[in-house]
Amino acid sequence: MRESVACGIEAARARTHLLTAFDEDVLTTQHDRLMSPLVWDLAHIGQQEDLWLLRGGDAACLGLLSAKVESLYDAFEHPRAERVSLPLLTPRESRSFIADVRGRVLDRLERAEESQLFPYVMVEQHEQQHVETMLATHQLRAGEPLLGVGAELPPGRVLPDDEAVMVPGGPFVMGVDGSAEPWSLDNERPAHEVDVPAFRIARVPVTNAQWQQFIDAGGYDQSHWWSERGWAHRIEAGLERPQFWAADGSRRRFGVVEQVPADEPVQHVSYWEADAYARWAGARLPTEQEWEKACAWDPALGRRRRWPWGDDPWTPGRANLGGDGLRPAPVGAYPSGASAYGVEQMIGDVWEWTSSGFDPWPQFRPMLYADYSAPFFGGDFRVLRGGSWAVGGAAIRPSFRNWDLPIRRQIFAGLRLAWDA
Ligand code: AVJ
Ligand code: FE
Repeated sequence: MRESVACGIEAARARTHLLTAFDEDVLTTQHDRLMSPLVWDLAHIGQQEDLWLLRGGDAACLGLLSAKVESLYDAFEHPRAERVSLPLLTPRESRSFIADVRGRVLDRLERAEESQLFPYVMVEQHEQQHVETMLATHQLRAGEPLLGVGAELPPGRVLPDDEAVMVPGGPFVMGVDGSAEPWSLDNERPAHEVDVPAFRIARVPVTNAQWQQFIDAGGYDQSHWWSERGWAHRIEAGLERPQFWAADGSRRRFGVVEQVPADEPVQHVSYWEADAYARWAGARLPTEQEWEKACAWDPALGRRRRWPWGDDPWTPGRANLGGDGLRPAPVGAYPSGASAYGVEQMIGDVWEWTSSGFDPWPQFRPMLYADYSAPFFGGDFRVLRGGSWAVGGAAIRPSFRNWDLPIRRQIFAGLRLAWDA
């Protein structure tokens, strides 16, 4: 177990280096107001690792940075838009700091008990989450491509439009316990029974071709498909199509301009757009409960599966994860990743907006990193499920809950439709 945990944190670090192995100005420029300069993420990754793994979370105990420098990497203290003007560590200093922390962490890990590994995997997930954030920053960056076009992905297969599977009503077990999923974070716990009325859910996510039909049908100009807040935002922000799409049917992806691929799940749409699309399509977004039941419940055995496809670990043939593709795979690409109900591509490809706000499960208890979830409960967030192509390592499970503001679309988020039965 210790070795696989070490492999996990080292794999996250390799991804961090891949996204930060660029000239000083790429790292220190703020590419968008919504994002930190990459060099902030770089040192913040090490600062969090120092705090949780070398000091057991005791911020009063001094780490490898001075208290003054360390405070620059406090995400609550400094909003993203302001980080570029702070006296941050240089890229060189950041790399040397995170390497120093990592050396000490690997030493400690060798001596750690099997029962003490959670904080290490929590920190691995934190780094993987920032890797995804750094990919969003790269996507927002103007200028010459730095990341290439991405690795080959499996081909899709033709499916009927809006093909849905029926999920019969009845109770299932929502969420997980540490005994079953030792790396689950606080907001996924504990497991608890939830009764879900029957519903139908789409076999695959909504595609770019389907989104184009929504545009062509005037969906962005007809307020009746939109919620009141959604329409107000559509007007104010001047939304006309997904972010990074142009009017001529092309898109810009990591600096490369290409035709929008028809059969790929749509990404870079906000919750407000996803909600309007669903109404236009005669559907709605699934709730978190519906999404998780369709993903993880095995009705024949009356228990959860660890993954949609069963209890066996992820392989590249089962879901598009890990970031190498730099894009979602076409719909139909992962029949062997189907859930017990036959729902496909729930894990990987695009984060899926749900209609649920971000709230704790009953009996919620904060973890060591107590401010990971709790400060955000009850806010103006919507929950996203399933992970995107950019998610790596231990940072995804059927119970994993992500959240963001309903106006956000720089994240790798799309949607899947649901219907009342
Ligand atoms: C879970 C993706 C919403 O990026 O705000 C990173 C993850 N928390 N560092 C975020 C996170 C602290 C978080 N999300
Ligand atoms: Fe963070």
